[in-house]
Amino acid sequence: MNRLADKNVVITGAASGIGRAAAELMVSEGARVLIADLDEDTAAEVAAEINRGDAPGHAVGAAADVMSETSIAAMIDRAVEEFGGIDVLCNHVGGSNPRKDLDLLRLDLEEWDRVMALNARSTVAASQFALPHMISAGGGSIINTVSVGGLVGDTLQCAYGASKAAVIRLTQYIATQYGRQGIRCNGVAPGAIMTPALRDNLPAEVIADIRHHNALDMIGDPEDIGWAMVYLASDESRYMSGQTLVLDGGLTAQSPIATSRRVLLDT
Ligand SMILES: NC(=O)c1ccc[n+]([C@@H]2O[C@H](COP(=O)([O-])OP(=O)(O)OC[C@H]3O[C@@H](n4cnc5c(N)ncnc54)[C@H](O)[C@@H]3O)[C@@H](O)[C@H]2O)c1
Repeated sequence: MNRLADKNVVITGAASGIGRAAAELMVSEGARVLIADLDEDTAAEVAAEINRGDAPGHAVGAAADVMSETSIAAMIDRAVEEFGGIDVLCNHVGGSNPRKDLDLLRLDLEEWDRVMALNARSTVAASQFALPHMISAGGGSIINTVSVGGLVGDTLQCAYGASKAAVIRLTQYIATQYGRQGIRCNGVAPGAIMTPALRDNLPAEVIADIRHHNALDMIGDPEDIGWAMVYLASDESRYMSGQTLVLDGGLTAQSPIATSRRVLLDT
């Protein structure tokens, strides 16, 4: 309770999945959260649902499309108007179409451009609009949602992985360039998390296979990432900057042959 008292937060893509869970947890810790998402009514409904409990913070819904700089600027203005400032910006929207974002030789170049804009360019633009407010207030925390796809190679989603890798490096640049003005910038890198995006994009047998290759025998829930975002938004993480927290059930911690070698323990 109240780990985020008096923090003003903007989360892009907060009407669903991980972003929604992060918004709810932040409100439960006392934050004022702008739920920024494509459809204004949906964002407002999600905010109303979050506000229905007796949490110490509160949520406000706003329309925002992170593909448009005008819309991003309006989102930041709205947060400043509504809350009086911004302490935390979560650049959370991201994704790619796995039917177009394939292996390199079959990669649709239009999808490459779209994914770079959705995942990387939007993170640059929103940070550009939010940073002056944070700097003039003496500091702030930027949290970028990336992915294990930005840490290791995969058989498909080339553009997704490359764009998330760009954001991991951007996280270090923001931390380096504005640390002296009190800005911290960190990332969260989820592995498979049970959200609408995961269910829509991956067949059940692929999700089961990911679980099989995780060190932990589970697939994460949105709250598993949301709590890490609460930590990065709070002053508890005041000495942490430029880092990316990996929350993937141990997928990238273990050798790829660990799963097949597990069988040797049973012989
Ligand atoms: N779910 C996973 O397994 C997983 C794994 C690794 C990384 N991630 C990352 O987590 C983030 C969110 O994933 P999720 O699974 O919670 O997704 P989700 O589909 O549940 O939610 C995404 C939200 O973003 C909104 N959105 C989409 N385009 C937008 C735009 N242009 N402007 C504003 N809002 C927009 C959607 O309306 C939706 O509410 C992404 O950055 C994704 O890459 C997810």
